[in-house]
Amino acid sequence: MMECNDKNVMAPGSVVGIIGGGQLGRMLALAAARLGFRVHIYCAAENSPAFEVAAKHWCAPFDNKQQLQDFANSCDIVTYEFENIPLETVRVISAITPVLPDINALNITQDRLHERAFLTTNSLPVAPFMKVDNKEDLAKAIGRLGNQTILKSRRFGYDGKGQIALSSATLSPPDVLAEIGNQPAILEQKINFDREISVLVLRSANELENYDICENLHLNQMLRRTRVPATIDPDIEQQAILMAQEITIAMDYVGLMAVEMFYCPDNEEQPLIINEIAPRVHNSGHWTQDGCIIDQFENHIRAICGWPLGSTKRHNDVVMTNLIGEDILNWQEYAGNTDSCLHIYGKKEPRQGRKMGHLTTLLPLTYSKPPSGSDENNVVQLKPSS
Ligand SMILES: Nc1ncnc2c1ncn2[C@@H]1O[C@H](COP(=O)(O)OP(=O)(O)O)[C@@H](O)[C@H]1O
Ligand SMILES: [Mg+2]
Repeated sequence: MMECNDKNVMAPGSVVGIIGGGQLGRMLALAAARLGFRVHIYCAAENSPAFEVAAKHWCAPFDNKQQLQDFANSCDIVTYEFENIPLETVRVISAITPVLPDINALNITQDRLHERAFLTTNSLPVAPFMKVDNKEDLAKAIGRLGNQTILKSRRFGYDGKGQIALSSATLSPPDVLAEIGNQPAILEQKINFDREISVLVLRSANELENYDICENLHLNQMLRRTRVPATIDPDIEQQAILMAQEITIAMDYVGLMAVEMFYCPDNEEQPLIINEIAPRVHNSGHWTQDGCIIDQFENHIRAICGWPLGSTKRHNDVVMTNLIGEDILNWQEYAGNTDSCLHIYGKKEPRQGRKMGHLTTLLPLTYSKPPSGSDENNVVQLKPSS
């Protein structure tokens, strides 16, 4: 095995552990393998897509302390591919092996109320919201926030799950709360945005980077398509990047983070509203696999392993399309498209609403950011990490 004098730097041959075995874990594992790491996966679900591309896997529940410790002992560094991991699971692992991004990032982002409290404390813009624990809270919140709102469970939401849009015509408060399983929730004002964008930022102990901003099209609250470059003004783009960087600095974050935002050009005072923070690689960053020199997956691995960050430079315009459910049955047609790269996750059944793969279509580059160094005045200064 190769060695490194700096104990914060993982040499090739080290073991990278990943909590979660979905497609994000699979693509992280493939990227790690390319750099010579061995990958161990921990996931409760049988037949997880990441198991097939890893050196070893643990298929066990997140509260199995023995298995968690065994996994942790086998790894040199551990990361995760989704944020709905019980904090106790991460505590057990990090008592043995470092986990990055750390438990603080997870605690903030796995609960929409914590996330919004964190953003508000850091003077970052979010949609007007109120905490909802019961039907009285909900009635009060509806009164305060108006009749175009969205009820969101605080935890475990993804792809629009645990969310209900409310208007004056919808069900009465007790019914709506029951529909999301009477979980603790927030009510949020519906934002009349022009477009959704995301910023992929990357932070290591001493570097801060970002990818070009992309534009996201959702269908039924699920990401359908991502397009780069986003058609937004350069000064808005800069604002969005600064906001996302601020989040990583305030959290003392290490790794790749995706920040989803609503772009509302008509609102001159507040053209950008932060919707969601993902403390991990993200579906809206899949375009980087084929459109950039180093993609989000490899750069996440580089950041957590103490390596220099790779170039985030984009060499093509890209349209990324998610292949959802039975879309995947047309794989042969996609495979024959010479302008596109096909990615298939190896899931057994193409169930409705299930992400089965994606297609990145490359187009000629129409815009590229200025060479690094030319925008130095705008880059937030790093505080030394503790
Ligand atoms: N306050 C809002 N106003 C308008 N649309 C919203 C709002 N919140 C969510 N949405 C829509 O629903 C999608 C999914 O919501 P999000 O909060 O990102 O949850 P998820 O965790 O499911 O991604 C968003 O990408 C957006 O299209
Ligand atoms: Mg989202």
